[in-house]
Amino acid sequence: MQTINDTAELRQVIQRYKQAGKTIAFVPTMGNLHEGHLSLVDKAKEQSDIVVASIFVNPMQFGENEDLDAYPRTLEADSIGLVEHGCDILFSPSAKEVYPNGTQAETRVDVPSLVEHHCGESRPGHFIGVATVVTKLFNMVQPDTAIFGEKDFQQLAVIRKMTLDLCMPIRIIGVPISREPSGLARSSRNGYLSTEEKTTAARIYQTLLQCKKSLENGNKDFERLSKKAIESLESLGFKKDYFNIANPNTLENATLNDNEYVILVAAWLGSTRLIDNIGVKL
Ligand code: PAF
Repeated sequence: MQTINDTAELRQVIQRYKQAGKTIAFVPTMGNLHEGHLSLVDKAKEQSDIVVASIFVNPMQFGENEDLDAYPRTLEADSIGLVEHGCDILFSPSAKEVYPNGTQAETRVDVPSLVEHHCGESRPGHFIGVATVVTKLFNMVQPDTAIFGEKDFQQLAVIRKMTLDLCMPIRIIGVPISREPSGLARSSRNGYLSTEEKTTAARIYQTLLQCKKSLENGNKDFERLSKKAIESLESLGFKKDYFNIANPNTLENATLNDNEYVILVAAWLGSTRLIDNIGVKL
């Protein structure tokens, strides 16, 4: 695996591959890779000749009181995982490389119709940071395909729409959530949890499954279902951020006419914010 920090060098290397007729798949990450990320690399490998992964902890998507400085940087271990999964290029640019003029003075990419609710509501500006950095990384790597995890359901929806709206010739692929045997969705933030908290955290998935079952049984009282789920999470020690039943395409609150839903949850366990989701088709 080649590790590259410089965009000009990356472009040269990718151009050579493209001239040789190779297809490029891209896996953008913020590092601290776990099995979930590595399953994205496996998917990329299946889809294309050359796999590029990026590791960049993007300051623009962190709010003022969020964990940018504490976010785990584990480049050495990440490189080993990437090599084991057959990644060809690791792109690991500095903040100066990505934001030469800082994050305030930059052009921004906004997908307003998809960020009104859920994480967009509780983390104002977060998705502008995500869409902007992904646009930059897409322009740096120029992949044919890009792979994202479905755990960040709203992020994936934002990126799909952005790619379409801005006519980016990139195929976006979502990969199902990778879970621990307990059901806990794999996340870099799980590293902040104690063993006891990890056991409790797995109850998020159980709560999602219970809500899914109620919907499948014909209960369409979305507000009551959400309230019940929140009460159950709070009784386990979580602090609610949101528990929403939404239309998976528009991300608006579900209506009685919908027969497909996504249940989206974000909750705090101590100082760790966890998110998860599940799809439901009637
Ligand atoms: O999902 C992530 O790790 C990040 O939001 C992404 C897509 C790499 C952009 O910084």
